[in-house]
Amino acid sequence: MQRDSSLSGLLSALNPHQLEAVTHGDGPLLVLAGAGSGKTRVLTHRIAWLVLEGRAEPGEILALTFTNKAAREMSMRVEELLGGSLKGAWVGTFHSIALRILRRHGSLLPVGPDFTVYDALDQKRLAKEVAKELSIDSKKIKPQALLAAVSRMKDDGLREGDIDPPGDTSSQYARALYKFYILYQKRLRQAAALDFGDLLVALLELFDRNPEIADTYGRRFKYLLVDEYQDTNRVQYLFAKKLSEVWGNITVVGDDDQSIYGWRGANIRNILDFEGTFPGTSVVRLEQNYRSTKPILNAASSVIAKNKGRHVKTLWTEREGGDPVVLNAADSEGEEAQWIGERIMDLTATGYRLGEIAVLYRTHALSRPIEDELIQRGIEYAIFGGLRFYERQE
Ligand SMILES: Nc1ncnc2c1ncn2[C@@H]1O[C@H](COP(=O)(O)OP(=O)(O)O)[C@@H](O)[C@H]1O
Ligand SMILES: [Mg+2]
Repeated sequence: MQRDSSLSGLLSALNPHQLEAVTHGDGPLLVLAGAGSGKTRVLTHRIAWLVLEGRAEPGEILALTFTNKAAREMSMRVEELLGGSLKGAWVGTFHSIALRILRRHGSLLPVGPDFTVYDALDQKRLAKEVAKELSIDSKKIKPQALLAAVSRMKDDGLREGDIDPPGDTSSQYARALYKFYILYQKRLRQAAALDFGDLLVALLELFDRNPEIADTYGRRFKYLLVDEYQDTNRVQYLFAKKLSEVWGNITVVGDDDQSIYGWRGANIRNILDFEGTFPGTSVVRLEQNYRSTKPILNAASSVIAKNKGRHVKTLWTEREGGDPVVLNAADSEGEEAQWIGERIMDLTATGYRLGEIAVLYRTHALSRPIEDELIQRGIEYAIFGGLRFYERQE
């Protein structure tokens, strides 16, 4: 009785396409949708549905998110829906799940069981040391850039040994990068450390060398679900593929129009090629948007329509009204800032709170004139940093 009522309550909160995705039986499922169309909602409801329907014990579920905050929210939300505990399920970021498995099998790792994990600061410090040791001129080639290139290669699954040694005709940069990668890894080994990008690579190696371990996890996790699939990189894709091999029950949700992590190795092909990689995939499109009004959606759609390599989707919303989108071409950054300042004053005069207003800009270098303008007008504001904006409160 209890179970039936929570099931019908669960399903009544969904639109027909969301319902289809949530109650999809077995086999691979690709949910394609724009921002604000309920992708994460589909995942939380699907996890709850799998448990309430008795298709899986919590311990047979693995859900992968992009930030720790998103993982915590997902667990909490599912427990609310279940009206009970999700204990035993693994809900976490790719990195945290990889780390968890690596820790359990530490004695089988080349780095040993007591490895430490280098965070961004440790990595930066080591990168500087290594560049210095190699006498790389940091004015010409920044250690940070070499580090980023190395991380990128790891995200693509390229180890130091996979890279061809540079020849006589190679650029100075290619030679520096090669030497850097090798020494950087050597220093990590000496410190018995893995950096962030190493975690998934090390895990895939563990699985390769010990197929029975991969098999144990593959068997355990009957259902694997991935949020923000458009932002996965190659090693994350390989990990998800490996763990879903036994049951084939992989559900991913994503938007091929909003990959924000291209610069750090996200591979949009993962989502575009999903149907080819996972035979028998069912595809569900969520096209109803719950966040934005029509004018905003129309403007966004006409820009997105020009993206190359995308699945076609048509977004719509029931949210009537809303002001049209205004395009203002200013002659200088000062004028642009002034215009922004005036708009904010207009908005607050008509009753909007400052907390409801956001100013987006492309890079931090552009914030200066805007900040000057806001300060001059006595408008209070808070700045959010790029990465930190997405990973804040972690
Ligand atoms: N069927 C629905 N009925 C009412 N609100 C919904 C529905 N689906 C999604 N929403 C709301 O839309 C917003 C965006 O949902 P979310 O799952 O975060 O979308 P996405 O992950 O696609 O960006 C949330 O506030 C969510 O509660
Ligand atoms: Mg989401």
